[in-house]
Amino acid sequence: MKGILLAGGSGTRLHPITQATSKQLLPVYDKPMVYYPLSTLLLSGIRDIMIISTPADLPQFKRLLGDGSRFGVKFTFAEQPSPDGLAQAFLIAREWLQGEACALALGDNLIHGEHLSVLLRAAAARPEGATVFACQVRDPERYGVVSFDDTGRALEIIEKPAVPDSNWAVIGLYFYDKRVSDIATTIKPSARGELEITDLNQVYLQEGTLHVERLGRGTAWLDAGTPDSLMQAATFVQTIQSRQGMLVGSPEEVAFRKGFIDADQLRTLSRQLGKTELGRVLAELADHHPVGHS
Ligand code: DAU
Repeated sequence: MKGILLAGGSGTRLHPITQATSKQLLPVYDKPMVYYPLSTLLLSGIRDIMIISTPADLPQFKRLLGDGSRFGVKFTFAEQPSPDGLAQAFLIAREWLQGEACALALGDNLIHGEHLSVLLRAAAARPEGATVFACQVRDPERYGVVSFDDTGRALEIIEKPAVPDSNWAVIGLYFYDKRVSDIATTIKPSARGELEITDLNQVYLQEGTLHVERLGRGTAWLDAGTPDSLMQAATFVQTIQSRQGMLVGSPEEVAFRKGFIDADQLRTLSRQLGKTELGRVLAELADHHPVGHS
């Protein structure tokens, strides 16, 4: 399975900060925002990743991330000329995908939780259909909202409903089978002029192949698209890391635990981080932890 990291858009809810830089490169505590969804893709076992951003911002992503070899993976970069919707990612990536199954991670979404890697691996391994994840939120009208029948079966997903039928929001991480780019070509722009990811999910839902995985109390889901949510995400990462001594959203750590890189490569990465706390924790990990424990 391949993966797409979508990190474009204009970040208008964070102006003026995002007038000069990409939202997904802003810091969430001690790492650039894009590190968090990147770590999620790596945790899913995905090693071939396309990073999509605006023509203006893409060079900075290349500078930050390189070709992926230092994480033991491969990055390909592609431009999205204008933010015409999340499902457009599969049209941009169509040739690169060559009919393979693909996951999509939004560059401003952070998930952290127990047993997540088991769920992610299961979603990546599912040969047919699609998998989305839902979390309960207080403000579902801001998201794609999924409703369920009495037996817990997903009934419908509606994008930003004025009156939501449930408080289950679909998070910005999606797994699709190999038909995804073909199905994406059938999606028509919505009333707001975008190729909606919700419409793509709705196709799978209607054919009965959409798996909706509900994430409970053990999982935190944050997006970081507004000043308040950016601050909350940073505080969350700081709290977990300083209290528990565990890293959140470190692609270096995930790459090592997955066995994509060895202890020497991790040591090199930690040295490049200089005297930072992040560098110190990674050096310790390289010295004390066996590979293959994700
Ligand atoms: O965060 C989860 C939500 O993400 C889902 O619940 C919704 O169903 C889904 O539509 C999406 O809603 P948002 O309102 O958050 O979408 P937004 O337009 O803000 O785009 C999400 C991210 O993707 C954002 O960081 C900008 C980037 N983006 C957006 C568009 C429309 C792109 O890179 N290209 C685009 O064309």
